[in-house]
Amino acid sequence: MNEEDYSPVSAFAEPTERDVETTLRPRRLDEFVGQPRVREQLDLVLRGAQQRGQPPDHVLLSGPPGLGKTSLSMIIAAELGSAIRITSGPALERAGDLAAMLSNLVEGDVLFIDEIHRMARPAEEMLYLAMEDFRVDVVVGKGPGATSIPLDIAPFTLVGATTRSGSLTGPLRDRFGFTGHMEFYSAEELEQVVHRSATILGIDLDVAGGAEIARRSRGTPRIANRLLRRVRDYAEVRADGAVTRQVARAALEVYDVDELGLDRLDRAVLGALVRSFGGGPVGVSTLAVAVGEEPTTVEEVCEPFLVRAGMLARTPRGRVATAAAWLQLGLTPPPQAPGETAASGSTR
Ligand SMILES: Nc1ncnc2c1ncn2[C@@H]1O[C@H](COP(=O)(O)OP(=O)(O)O)[C@@H](O)[C@H]1O
Ligand SMILES: [Mg+2]
Repeated sequence: MNEEDYSPVSAFAEPTERDVETTLRPRRLDEFVGQPRVREQLDLVLRGAQQRGQPPDHVLLSGPPGLGKTSLSMIIAAELGSAIRITSGPALERAGDLAAMLSNLVEGDVLFIDEIHRMARPAEEMLYLAMEDFRVDVVVGKGPGATSIPLDIAPFTLVGATTRSGSLTGPLRDRFGFTGHMEFYSAEELEQVVHRSATILGIDLDVAGGAEIARRSRGTPRIANRLLRRVRDYAEVRADGAVTRQVARAALEVYDVDELGLDRLDRAVLGALVRSFGGGPVGVSTLAVAVGEEPTTVEEVCEPFLVRAGMLARTPRGRVATAAAWLQLGLTPPPQAPGETAASGSTR
């Protein structure tokens, strides 16, 4: 992928923005904006364990990309005053990779496994025992002569993050004492996120400018922070550096992000669905060909947001445009289009 392939409203981190993301990460629970339920629940889990002088239960954080799972994992370690060891499901291809990680843990450490649903099966099975009994069985040798040597490991807290809690196996899910379900953020919460980031980055952002960015950020702090940085560039090059509503609007137009946070591909998908296929139903692969994209891109990148925004429905016979989609494109929805037919411009 080259630079232009990244949409400004993708929820996935671009490789070049890792550093700035680190700078913008909240460090403590009370700095973490939004997610009031998860925050309160987690606060109790952590404090309870601290009062008992034990490592807390293992924690699973689940939710779409860009909502703060990695940030929250680091916060858990910070709140406990513990060290964090970081790895990911895809990096744990062999059980030995995990055994090495586990045997290096010190009592009270936090082990963070990102994308935990992508862990290989043998590593996952090793993890069951480690989570339950703080023990691993290391298998030495092969075939009938193989023996397994039990090895104690230090009591630790596992924090797993996943964008697909549905693809975790039952036995793994059951071993987490607490699961935090991350929700999309409200526009008000995203405003708090962008103002906090603006302060850290030294950006002059006014209230209306912040609201404009927040509204187009698809409920996702990662996107809000990225749009803030793009708008800052525009403000510095084409204006006096201050981010006002007018500057934000003009900048986001340049980056092809519309009022609702739809990008060029989202609009192409809706446009094809409505104009070429009469609103559907149409299969996702046919739709993908019509916009010149891979079916998986349409399915995994565009559709979740279009569905959430109430513009596209997935039916057994294919994809269907809702009344809101027709209205969004400035067209009159046909009577059979699902969804309210009353002209409601709002999608939240
Ligand atoms: N609740 C929050 N408050 C402030 N900033 C946040 C919050 N959640 C996420 N962010 C910002 O969004 C970026 C992405 O968050 P991250 O924790 O990497 O998400 P995930 O791991 O769920 O993909 C971080 O750099 C952070 O700056
Ligand atoms: Mg992450």
